[in-house]
Amino acid sequence: MNPHTTSSGSRRRSAALKLVELRKQFGDIVAIDGVSLDVMAGEFVTLLGASGSGKSTTLMAVAGFIDATSGEVLINGEDQSRQPPHKRDIGLVFQHYALFPHLSVEKNVAFPLEMRRLPKAQIGERVRRALDLVRLGSLGARKPSELSGGQQQRVALARALVYEPSILLLDEPLGALDKSLREEMQWEIRRIQQALAITTVAVTHDQHEAITMSDRIAIMRNGRIEQIGTPADIYERPRTRYIAEFMGSSNFLRGKVEAGPDGGRLRVAPHTAVPLAPRAGALADGSMDLVIRPERVRCVPGPREGDGLAGAIAGVTYVGEAWQIDVKLDSGEMLTASHANHGELALAPGDRVAIDLGTHPWWAVPLES
Ligand SMILES: Nc1ncnc2c1ncn2[C@@H]1O[C@H](COP(=O)(O)OP(=O)(O)OP(=O)(O)O)[C@@H](O)[C@H]1O
Ligand SMILES: [Mg+2]
Repeated sequence: MNPHTTSSGSRRRSAALKLVELRKQFGDIVAIDGVSLDVMAGEFVTLLGASGSGKSTTLMAVAGFIDATSGEVLINGEDQSRQPPHKRDIGLVFQHYALFPHLSVEKNVAFPLEMRRLPKAQIGERVRRALDLVRLGSLGARKPSELSGGQQQRVALARALVYEPSILLLDEPLGALDKSLREEMQWEIRRIQQALAITTVAVTHDQHEAITMSDRIAIMRNGRIEQIGTPADIYERPRTRYIAEFMGSSNFLRGKVEAGPDGGRLRVAPHTAVPLAPRAGALADGSMDLVIRPERVRCVPGPREGDGLAGAIAGVTYVGEAWQIDVKLDSGEMLTASHANHGELALAPGDRVAIDLGTHPWWAVPLES
């Protein structure tokens, strides 16, 4: 576990960036609808959400490129409403590199320092350090057009970091890269972010990227933060069905809550009641949807009369690292299981299977209104 993931630990530190009830309206369109967020010093927070959910607008309001309709942006405790973008202590990287094509890599990275009128000797030293940091030390004389996409994004990162801002904002910085380069750059950005302990807010709509890079993830929906927490919080303990669906794939089994010790139980079939995790929201004595991640389900061959969930295999799909097994339950509902690929699979379409949900407690979400 990295040092930023404990919530008690991060709460003790001060917020380097604080958003208070931030709102932005473009005419009738409410782009952000009351976003409050504390980002601790050195923390990496990702805004994740569907297209149009307000991620970029939030970042642009932090950077000062758009004026919020209401609410506050505080950096190290100071209100930023009167600060123009270049006076905010922020480095920015966008999806499209926006490097100056006619300038060398070195000149691109030196640009923010020249704007700030640093002495020449200092500029040379800082540019060298920034280029070393992103592992481009030997390419300073090249033009952007002579670099790969990933290298260009490293230059953009070096340029954002060279004046040592206290906050780094990343808006889909890897969006234009192919998958393997993207994954390499995820590690690279995380390594640099941790080496500098720089407070970072990133935007992505790639859930895997958010999970692997972030200390905390804020899921945005319709201009609001629907849930914020560690990657495990969001994946294992989604507050709503929307979050569960957005973060990975999930089955939902509707059931009735039966009160009991800890979280009680959820009856999902006449003969099947599964234990609920405490705080799964089970207190509302009514219907809930059980969140069943495909990798947590076992399909066991052979019918098991009378007890538990059972059905017939409707389809088996090879997905490389796993087999995806689609089961038609006797209730008529479909359920997808994922079995890790340990070789061949002894299950085929048409086979009767029992669904083994194990004995550990499960998470449930309220019915979506
Ligand atoms: N300049 C603008 N004028 C009018 N509406 C805007 C403007 N900028 C953004 N919007 C609207 O505000 C909402 C939020 O947009 P935003 O760009 O923040 O979304 P996003 O989450 O970054 O989406 P994406 O993943 O597609 O980049 C959208 O409905 C968008 O159409
Ligand atoms: Mg955007």
